[in-house]
Amino acid sequence: MRVLTAATTALALMLGMATAQADAIKIKFAHVVAENTPKGQMALKFKELAESRLPGKVEVEVYPNSQLFNDNNVLEAMLLGDVQLAAPSLSKFNKYTKKLQVFDLPFLFKDMTAVEKFQSGPEGQKLLSSMSSKGLLGLGYLHNGLKQLSASKELRKPSDADGLKFRIQSSDVLAAQFEAVGATPLKKPFSEVFLLLQTKAIDGQENTWSNIYSKKFFEVQEHITASNHGLIDYLVVTSAEFWNDLPDDVRPVLEKSMKEAIAHGNMIAEQKVTGDRKRIADSGRSTILELSDAERAMWVKAMKPVWDKFAGEIGQDLIDAAVASNN
Ligand code: LMR
Repeated sequence: MRVLTAATTALALMLGMATAQADAIKIKFAHVVAENTPKGQMALKFKELAESRLPGKVEVEVYPNSQLFNDNNVLEAMLLGDVQLAAPSLSKFNKYTKKLQVFDLPFLFKDMTAVEKFQSGPEGQKLLSSMSSKGLLGLGYLHNGLKQLSASKELRKPSDADGLKFRIQSSDVLAAQFEAVGATPLKKPFSEVFLLLQTKAIDGQENTWSNIYSKKFFEVQEHITASNHGLIDYLVVTSAEFWNDLPDDVRPVLEKSMKEAIAHGNMIAEQKVTGDRKRIADSGRSTILELSDAERAMWVKAMKPVWDKFAGEIGQDLIDAAVASNN
């Protein structure tokens, strides 16, 4: 009899747990990079914090490496309710807002301190809700870092890029930036870049030290120019409908967890700049080229006219505010 009672109790407990889990709010977080990156680590930190603070109430599933969705379809999937969190690069929102194109303007930010200043200032904060009419809500910015140019040949002067094919993210500003130096830009998802480089279907690409390292681009690109010519940062984004419908005892906890996860990701981003650059240099697979001031000035001169082309769509006020963050 006692055995039966124990078994019944165990069964009841198991059923109770199963019901609690079935009731838990499921949050799928999809991203395209490796786990050993600022975004990969941020997503895992968010899972850890959210699940420990809301046990049984929230379940977070993280899908790295474009396992669930890639750059081209994650935002559509979000609006359909198939994924609840993502953090695409700021260059991948062209279809939803033209304002975020400000972050793609070449040679806009002199360093990550300027980026942080602009993002946390009034103009940057306003941009978080720039897609609310489309159903997307920005929860915060996450850093990766400044971009470097890589190619199968040495890129010292803008004319070295003439005639080469570069993979770009889905951004018209980035297309114009490469056209300005006589190169051909190709919009391709991040998941395809390694193969395109390896098979020499393209000649080069632009990315941060952490992406070049974690996706092994340095193994198939002999030359990297330490150009710091642009930015890859992220907008952590969710569906406004999903977020606003969350219970009142859940949403603030998730907001706090996200804020802390972003701070953690930002700390990793800072470490990766020097750490992954050194790992690449130590590998001996790529040579890293430093530009002289005169060489850098040539790249600035060639690429900066792109600003004027997009000032109308972005808004001169926004550009001015971003420039002012360098002071
Ligand atoms: C890229 O497509 O190169 C990057 O946006 C990937 C990423 O998410 O860092």
